[in-house]
Amino acid sequence: MPELNFDKVISSLKLRLENVHEELEFDLISKEFLGRDSLISEERKKLKNLSDVDKKDYGQVITNVSTEINDLISNAKNSFKNKFYENLEQSEIFDLTVSKQKDFGSYKHVLTSVMEEVVDIFSSIGYKVAYGPEAETAWHNFDALNTPDWHPARYESDTLYLDKDLTKLLRTQTSTVQIRHMENNSPPVYIVAPGRVYRSDQLDATHSPVFHQLEGLAIDENLTFTDLKGTLEYFVKQYFGNNIETKFIPHFFPFTEPSAEVLVKWNNGEWLEILGCGMVDPNVLSNVGYEKKFQGFAWGVGIERLAMLKYKINHIKNFYENDIRFLRQF
Ligand code: DAH
Repeated sequence: MPELNFDKVISSLKLRLENVHEELEFDLISKEFLGRDSLISEERKKLKNLSDVDKKDYGQVITNVSTEINDLISNAKNSFKNKFYENLEQSEIFDLTVSKQKDFGSYKHVLTSVMEEVVDIFSSIGYKVAYGPEAETAWHNFDALNTPDWHPARYESDTLYLDKDLTKLLRTQTSTVQIRHMENNSPPVYIVAPGRVYRSDQLDATHSPVFHQLEGLAIDENLTFTDLKGTLEYFVKQYFGNNIETKFIPHFFPFTEPSAEVLVKWNNGEWLEILGCGMVDPNVLSNVGYEKKFQGFAWGVGIERLAMLKYKINHIKNFYENDIRFLRQF
């Protein structure tokens, strides 16, 4: 009884079906495997020479194989067609949620991000956020902060006043929020106050008449300079990274005694000043009516400066010019 290796036929059919690229090919394959000149037809032709029994058996085998081939081809054709329409659907899908100008409009300004980052660092150790007005009284900006009448910061050449009597001004520092907060809240106090400040400064690489600061204030019963150092060192490491070196050097501010400046050691070995701080002067605490048993520390840090150092920005005007090529880098 003639016996074609039907397994081989089926395997080669399967291979062909896996590599179809066009629907038309299925008809060609069908012809090749089942048509007049196919191997199957050749086998069928041989049936007439077989005995009745063999004819019946082999005929059955050929019929089974033909059915199998037919099924394989029509299944493959169906799934090819389905895939084709699925792909078409996918490629034509119209996503209404995708913005046409997806590169624009969803970035935070780098100053906002740095401000939020700094606020987050202090929030993580228990500080609450407080705000104050930008148009201020000279009392909140200077007097209550123990700044005497003769202090140069009060000169009109430094401060933008809003009236002739020099009693109202655009705040020159966020330290005003210390006073406003303590006037309305009893100790303990642990706050940070982010905000915009104004100075009568010419624009140069590191100065702008409007810029941003973050003020910090901690008042409690047993706070010491050690707490101040630990807190600010923690901040500096969180912001610049654990390997940064810091040092505190003596300084003067009217509202703190003693006062200090914090410097960080930059890659090139240079020490750069990043913030002012100190133990809150007892005069400030008595100006807001706090009992003598309370003491604490305060600091003020410039946000532009922090951003310029971290991102190596060489001119402060970059922050305000709104040049999209600068802004979208962050
Ligand atoms: N207000 C200061 C400034 O604008 C910064 C500052 C220094 C704030 C020392 C403080 C402080 O609270 O204790 O330069």
